[in-house]
Amino acid sequence: MMSERIRLDYSNLLSALSEEEVFALQPEVERCHTLLHDKSGPGGDFLGWVDLPGRICPEEVREIKAVAAFVEQDVDAFVVIGIGGSYLGARAVIEALGHTFSHVLPRGDSGAPNIFFAGHHLDGRYHQDLLEYLDGRQFAINVISKSGTTTEPAIAFRKLRRLLEKKVGIERARELIFVTTDAEKGALHSLAQAKGYKTFVIPNDVGGRYSVLTPVGLLPIAAAGVPISELIEGARAAQKWADNPDLRHNPAYFYAAARNLLYRKGKKIEILLICHPALAYFSEWWKQLFGESEGKEGKGIFPAACSLTTDLHSMGQWIQDGERTLFETILQVDTPDGIVRIEEEAENRDGLNYLAGKDMNDVNAQALAGTALAHREGSVPSMALRIPELNAHYLGQLIYFFEIACGLSGYLLGVNPFDQPGVEAYKKNMFALLSKLGYEEQREALLAQLKEQGSGKVI
Ligand code: PA5
Repeated sequence: MMSERIRLDYSNLLSALSEEEVFALQPEVERCHTLLHDKSGPGGDFLGWVDLPGRICPEEVREIKAVAAFVEQDVDAFVVIGIGGSYLGARAVIEALGHTFSHVLPRGDSGAPNIFFAGHHLDGRYHQDLLEYLDGRQFAINVISKSGTTTEPAIAFRKLRRLLEKKVGIERARELIFVTTDAEKGALHSLAQAKGYKTFVIPNDVGGRYSVLTPVGLLPIAAAGVPISELIEGARAAQKWADNPDLRHNPAYFYAAARNLLYRKGKKIEILLICHPALAYFSEWWKQLFGESEGKEGKGIFPAACSLTTDLHSMGQWIQDGERTLFETILQVDTPDGIVRIEEEAENRDGLNYLAGKDMNDVNAQALAGTALAHREGSVPSMALRIPELNAHYLGQLIYFFEIACGLSGYLLGVNPFDQPGVEAYKKNMFALLSKLGYEEQREALLAQLKEQGSGKVI
């Protein structure tokens, strides 16, 4: 497929940053590029994603497509169980490309089963409603956990596995459960072995939030009817152009360098501005990628997201006039889907005839142009990342663009972008409070703290 490269328009950055300042970072960028490619930097054991698009195994892709074809025939619903990096990438792509109202269609618009997500939080009502809904449906499960020990997906899997076994029997359930986990270790791996489930492997050297192009993302995405070969091709195309460390030719590196310079100048918040609600989960994936990679050691840009024009009627005020500590990255689709033309009306009581003949996407484009100008006026530097269309190919490019930009940006910031030590804090407390074996001492200390809080200040 002939494709264009995604483009980074940085004209609205130049009020805050000169091109010379960005290009002056070239030696630092080259140093970090080498760390990423020869895997010699912090977290070097988790850099398998850097050349992943180019070496995705065709046999694995065939197996994934075979499972997708099987579930398309056999079930109405495909439940993806996972959290964080074991969930967000798949949801980002599926929601970006699927029918907006797929859940009220009998099946996804492509004829694929509807996709449901579970185990990405601990909410009882959500899971109760899901279990109730699935009780009346033919469903299959894909449980995804690299460690194989994460509590949220483990609980959801226990509940859904039991429901499926009750509905269709243990033998049939075995054919309808797909496990994506480590090749050798973890409770999920052992469970899958014991039960004989079909298993896909998450490579050791790819961390959760960089794993969307492994079976973690590819299996659910394929099950949703998305052409994964196009997604992979897009990522491959990006891998090729991103191999060049020259800031004048590599938009991902330019973006990484510019955001670091903005951060050094006091811009502590980055807003990813999306212009289409279908990209809402793409921004969630992006937030996790950058937040978990860079927010450490007291450093890191806070990644936030807003949706045009919805959030202009809520966060727009803050962005325009609040504290000047933010910058924006606009994710722009040059030719968006959907044609909804506005008709002329003889009476024109709503005063909209000045828009007659226009398509809603044209109006949206002018809203974006107006917003970018207003934000420039309001001293919000911005970059626009432009893709020609919203399809699997360009999503693949975007995924790789942000992954490589994030790796480089983390190294420029001086952190290890591939660990997440901060995530453990809540887990330890939760396990202690839930009386998990081995956490007895912490439990006593935490209960004492809670008691103190309980007798404390409440109004
Ligand atoms: O990016 C990460 O590493 C995390 O967000 C993990 O993906 C998340 O915590 C889920 O972990 P696991 O796949 O081990 O269940």
